[in-house]
Amino acid sequence: MDILRTTRALQSRADAVRADGRRIGLVPTMGALHEGHLALVDAARARADDVVVSIYVNPTQFNAGADLEAYPRTVETDLAACEARGVDAVFLPGDDQLYPEGAETWVDLSEITRPLEGVSRPGHFRGVATVVTKLFIAAKPHVACFGEKDYQQLALIRRMATDLGFDIDVVGVPTVREPDGLALSSRNVRLSEEARRQAPVIARVLDAAESAVASGERRCEALLHGVRTELAKAPLAEIDYAELRTADALAPVDAVLEGPTLLALAVNFPAEAGGTVRLIDNRVLETSQS
Ligand code: PAF
Repeated sequence: MDILRTTRALQSRADAVRADGRRIGLVPTMGALHEGHLALVDAARARADDVVVSIYVNPTQFNAGADLEAYPRTVETDLAACEARGVDAVFLPGDDQLYPEGAETWVDLSEITRPLEGVSRPGHFRGVATVVTKLFIAAKPHVACFGEKDYQQLALIRRMATDLGFDIDVVGVPTVREPDGLALSSRNVRLSEEARRQAPVIARVLDAAESAVASGERRCEALLHGVRTELAKAPLAEIDYAELRTADALAPVDAVLEGPTLLALAVNFPAEAGGTVRLIDNRVLETSQS
């Protein structure tokens, strides 16, 4: 497995792989890899000959310096996990490679970044869009894989790839879940014991909404009422948002579902160490099924 630390080295390697007629699959990550990330590696492997994982804790997508400091850094374990999963190359850049001194170029999308996560994390998606653009330019992939759990991130990267004319297939990979339905996240370990017991309520709420739509329910208010009622059964769950939005542009859906619609949830639970852990999850509700 190659380990590359400079953009120049990654670009030269990509040129050689492309010259051989081989397809490159990129999996951008911030490290602390779990099975969810490794599912992205598998998805890239299924679509490309050469799989590149980038590991970079991107400072510009953090709102608070303390969160950036506290972000888990487990490079040795991550490299071992990549090697074991058959990754061909890992890109491990330093800040100077992605943000050269004096950097002042940003990629900033408008409407799609405003709702949902954009409300409580101003500037977050500008950091994501900027670093993903830089990774696309550095890795020159044919295909790039992102988790559907961070649905808004996936949607804006698709939008950005279209708007900027990147010749890259942006693939969304289904969320990997614990046996009780809880979406895998590095945040799960921070939940208190009782919060961890109650947290799978989120997946049950999504399943119930999907069943309701499959049975013909189309009224937004009825669906959201169902979401709130189900979540109330977990006394520790505190809703940050529960919203229905169009699945592509994330525009508001007012009265009735008329096409594929995203049900997006963010729910706070108590953390073991005090404070809260904010969990997000989502489901695309398909109206064409019934
Ligand atoms: O999803 C993530 O881990 C990050 O937002 C990404 C896409 C690697 C950009 O830093």
